[in-house]
Amino acid sequence: MNKFPDDFFWGASTSAHQVEGGNIHNDWWLAEQSGALKEPSGQACRHYELFREDFAIAKELGHNCHRFSIEWSRIEPQEGKFQDSEIQHYHKVITELRNLGMEPVVTLHHFTNPLWFSQKGGWTKFKLQRYFLRFVEKMVREFSGEVKFWITINEPLVYSSHAYLLGCWPPQERSLLKTVKVTLNMAQAHIKAYSLIHKIYQDKALARPMVSIAANLQAFELCRPTLKNKLAVYLRHKLYNLYFIEILLRKKTLDYIGVNYYSRNLVDVESWGIVHLLADTCKHNHHPLRKNSLGWDIYPQGLYKLLVSLKKYNLPVFITENGICTEDDDLKWDYIREHLGQVYKAREEGVNVLGYIYWSLIDNFEWAEGFAPRFGLVNVDYQNQRRTIRPSAKKLSEVSKTGLI
Ligand code: BGC
Repeated sequence: MNKFPDDFFWGASTSAHQVEGGNIHNDWWLAEQSGALKEPSGQACRHYELFREDFAIAKELGHNCHRFSIEWSRIEPQEGKFQDSEIQHYHKVITELRNLGMEPVVTLHHFTNPLWFSQKGGWTKFKLQRYFLRFVEKMVREFSGEVKFWITINEPLVYSSHAYLLGCWPPQERSLLKTVKVTLNMAQAHIKAYSLIHKIYQDKALARPMVSIAANLQAFELCRPTLKNKLAVYLRHKLYNLYFIEILLRKKTLDYIGVNYYSRNLVDVESWGIVHLLADTCKHNHHPLRKNSLGWDIYPQGLYKLLVSLKKYNLPVFITENGICTEDDDLKWDYIREHLGQVYKAREEGVNVLGYIYWSLIDNFEWAEGFAPRFGLVNVDYQNQRRTIRPSAKKLSEVSKTGLI
C-alpha cells in the first residue's frame, strides 16, 4: 500500500453562490430571475445557515482543510456599502473551521460579481479592477489573522470564455475582444492583489501567506496523430493550461499552483483555421472512456501528466478541485481512487503536491446546468435539505484518516 505524508491536506470545496442560497445581489441571481438560465439557484443548499452541520460532516469524514468562497455581493451589495453583519458571518465560518481543525482555503472570486459591478461593465473595464482590489484589501485585513491559503480568482479562463465568448454565463456575450480584455484584467487584478495581500501580512508581522489562483487544467489528447491535431494539442495546452499561469509566474505572484482538474479533451481538428485548432474535438466517440453525468471523459492519467508538466515551475501544487458528477456511487469512488493514485505517482516523481480538495463537499447548484449534476461527497435532498453521506465519501475518509491508498 502507498501512503501520503501525515501533513498532506485532505478536504472538499464549495463556492458561495453554489451552496449558500439567497445570493440576491449578484449578476447570476439577476440572470436566473430573467429565465435566461436552466433554473434559479434559489435557496440552493441553505449552506449559509447550515454551514456548521456541513462542516461537522467534513470533520467526520477526516478532512483537515476546507475550501470555500466569500461572496463579494454579500459583503458589498451596493457600491461602497460594506455589510458588517456579512463580514461577521464569514468570521463565524472561519472560526468554525479552525475550531474543527480544518485549514480554510479562501477564494475571493468564484464566478459571481456584485450586480452594481457587472452593471458598470465588470471585468471588461480595466479601471474597475480597483473595486475588486478594494474588496480584497478589506477581506484580507479582516481575515489575515485566521487565513493562510488564499485563492484570488477561480478559473479566470473558464469565467472569461463562458461569460464573454460562449455566451452561456452572465452577461451571456459573444465577443473575442471582451474575452481577451476580461482575461487580461483578471491577470492584472491577481498580480496587484498578490502584492496587496503580502503587504498586509508584512505590515501586521504575520507569517507569509500562500496566495494563488485556481487554474482549470485540461488533458488535451490526440485523437489521430495528424499534424493539425498535434499543433492543436500544443496550442491548447499552451493557451488554456499554461498561458495565464505563466503571466503570473513572470511577475512572481504565485506561492503555489492551485489546480482544478476534471477531464480529457480529445482533440480532432476538422480543417486548418484558428477556431478549428482551438476548439474542435472528436465527434465520433473514438477512444471511448467512462463518462460523468455531463458526458465528460474520465481520464485520471491526465492529472498525472499535467502535474508532471508543472514540475518545471518549481512551486508547490494544491489540487483545489477534482470531482465527478454521477448517480453511480461506485463510479464516483473509482474516479476518486484512480485520481488519487495519479497524484501519488506524481508525488513520487517529485511534484510537491500539498493536498487534495474534492469538488464538492455537498451536491450543489452547477451553474447553467442547474441542480441535476451530483458532484457531492454528500447527497442533498433539495426538498428538505437533508444531507446523506455517500459510501464513496466514507471510502475517501479512510484515505484521509490513514493516508493509505
Ligand atoms: C468550478 C465549479 C464547478 C465545477 C464543476 C469548476 O470549474 O470551479 O464551480 O461547479 O467545476 O463543473
